[in-house]
Amino acid sequence: MLFFNFNKPFRQWQPTKSNLLFSLFFLITSQVLAQKQILIPIETRQHALALQVGADQRVGITYFGKKLKTPAEYQYVPAMYRRGDDYSGILNAAYTPAGSRNLVEPAIQVTHSDGNTSLDLQYVSHKVQKIDKNVSTTSLLLRDPQHPLEVTLFYKVYYDENVVEQWSVIKNTQQGPVTLHKYASANLYLTADRYWLKHYHGDWAKEMQTEETQLTTGIKVLDSKLGTRANLYQPPTFMVSLDKPATEDEGRVLYGSVEWSGNFRVDLEVDPLNNLRIIGGINPFASAYTLAPGQEFSTALFLYTYSENGKGEASRNLHRWARKYRILEGEGNRLTLLNNWEATYFDFNEPKLAELIKDTKRLGVDMFLLDDGWFGNKYPRNSDKAGLGDWQENVQKLPHGIGYLVKEAKNNDVKFGIWVEPEMVNPKSELYEKHPEWVIRQPGREEHLYRNQLVLDLSNPQVQDFVFNVLDNIMTKNPGVAFFKWDCNAVIYNAHSSYLKNQSHLYVDYVKGLYKVLDRFRAKYPKLPMMLCSGGGGRVDYAALKYFTEFWLSDNTDPLERIFMQWEYSYFFPAISHDNHVTDWGKQPIKFRTDVAMMGKLGFDIVVSKLEPKELQFCQDAIKTYNSIKDVVWHGDLFRLASPREHDYASLMYVNEAKNRAVLFNYMVGSRYGAGTDSPIKLKGLNPDKKYKLKELNLYPETRTPIKEDAVYSGDYLMTVGFNPLLNTRRTSVILELTQVK
Ligand code: GLA
Repeated sequence: MLFFNFNKPFRQWQPTKSNLLFSLFFLITSQVLAQKQILIPIETRQHALALQVGADQRVGITYFGKKLKTPAEYQYVPAMYRRGDDYSGILNAAYTPAGSRNLVEPAIQVTHSDGNTSLDLQYVSHKVQKIDKNVSTTSLLLRDPQHPLEVTLFYKVYYDENVVEQWSVIKNTQQGPVTLHKYASANLYLTADRYWLKHYHGDWAKEMQTEETQLTTGIKVLDSKLGTRANLYQPPTFMVSLDKPATEDEGRVLYGSVEWSGNFRVDLEVDPLNNLRIIGGINPFASAYTLAPGQEFSTALFLYTYSENGKGEASRNLHRWARKYRILEGEGNRLTLLNNWEATYFDFNEPKLAELIKDTKRLGVDMFLLDDGWFGNKYPRNSDKAGLGDWQENVQKLPHGIGYLVKEAKNNDVKFGIWVEPEMVNPKSELYEKHPEWVIRQPGREEHLYRNQLVLDLSNPQVQDFVFNVLDNIMTKNPGVAFFKWDCNAVIYNAHSSYLKNQSHLYVDYVKGLYKVLDRFRAKYPKLPMMLCSGGGGRVDYAALKYFTEFWLSDNTDPLERIFMQWEYSYFFPAISHDNHVTDWGKQPIKFRTDVAMMGKLGFDIVVSKLEPKELQFCQDAIKTYNSIKDVVWHGDLFRLASPREHDYASLMYVNEAKNRAVLFNYMVGSRYGAGTDSPIKLKGLNPDKKYKLKELNLYPETRTPIKEDAVYSGDYLMTVGFNPLLNTRRTSVILELTQVK
């Protein structure tokens, strides 16, 4: 099997006589062989992955990168593994099996029913299924000729958005059980001189801390073994730049992510030929999965997009895909809200909440969101130490139940939403007393709690019913409930299920159980808006967002911290999914806090009655202003202009599809002497041939703008020369609206 690669050989190639002869021979033989070889290009509008079936029936990745004009030409791409045929279909395997000739990190590793541990996957057939004008799925059936095991590789292409989702289905066609030790979603193979990985780490209130480093030979692993709240220390999202770190507008960059709300693992292996192998999927850690004869295993999905024009374009592609195809109601509306978490914590009662509902109306937001603390009677939920699991209204705090609050909300012409954390239990709860067998814990061992709580065993169908019923009962009794905040505050310690026979299925079956509950919920309540929360962003991924309209980024709402976090989240998730609340965290004035929250979906978690008259006036006006620009923020394209990591300010803008409206957000992040924007910031995404005027929004009462609002600029000027929002240490945040002038 012979392949070509445009990049590598040309860099290494020396024009000697033997080289010339070899190249000629190589070219002729490859042309002849190419006739027989099956080429399977997976193409989006801009990029392509080419799979090629070799003479030995093994499938290799022979090209990854910018799409070529003529698909047939992928077959001339010189081999990425060109140190001889020994590597063919091995380093570049489309789905690397373990236990045969492959000695690199596998995508799949199995023990067959007869105890044999080898696997060799060979091409059987492939087909392309067109779902609509934009979406198609290519599937390849592979089979082990010795041991009857089938693997189907799926590549779902979202053509215009340049996004591909990959997964595999593994079928046991043997007489006895087969054990899967590793079962990745995807296997990619890229070539470049160098690889730069941008990835994330964090903790509670420290989400999305980032690092960008060059990958060296060997394997870098991104993973989670936390079970639930799996992204607490590391999310499954990452970027790889080829040759040099991509900037916003330049460079080759791949964004990848595992769509799985549990343990994930991504291996990034720079192989002996300096090519990059990426294998991503469910983390096989403590998760060997046994398939009965005839049973299939569908892996998680792995998502990627690739751009030759930098990180900005890649994220815009991903946003468009997410809004159109993934996030629930991704192109729809959202509710602005007042949340009582930081205003009251657990300390509230009916009269207090009735006041807050009035404040919701006074503020001008759409909904009041009642947070934690409303339930539990034998063990009232007055702190995070008790009551979790007992989803009955606390009769002291809410003598007239949720129904009364829903009615109060209705009387005030606002909506009502409510917090739940249905997967979890406090040991001090009636649920725990009644159903200790529903709790994940090792028998005979000391219990380790995380936030004083334990995780319920969602692999158990009875627990799935219980969790579904927590939400369904609320809805059935109170059909006026308009929103849920679904929280998940603990990791799984002492992983053990008293329901499962096979303990190594727990991590996987937990997540599958969770999705079953969410599927059932969505079948009954298809569009009810719901926030994905996990003590912050500890669980956000694109499998979960299918069921949720939005997510809580972090409990850290200090606006300065938020600028950095929202910036990093924005690479992967569009603004319509970002829940940003104005709280009392941080030392900044209410204007700064509100301006920062406005770059996503705006909410408040403050004591409205304690606001100074001017502050209240500002917030009320800001909400009206937000309502007038939210369409652009939620559905427009995001352009990052100045990174807070490189300047003492941050600047970004959203532009609507017609390019006739845009909103520009600017924030100071440094306060050293002289800090500010002393030169224009170049705007992006406008129509160069149209003219725009700029207006400053969200001015604090009795302040004036130094911006000349009657001036008109061409898009060309604004994108070439730029515009100075006049930020400085006294003018720390500036929001500008751009409107096209007829
Ligand atoms: C988590 C959430 C918070 C709040 C509390 C309630 O920490 O992130 O927003 O809902 O739980 O206990």
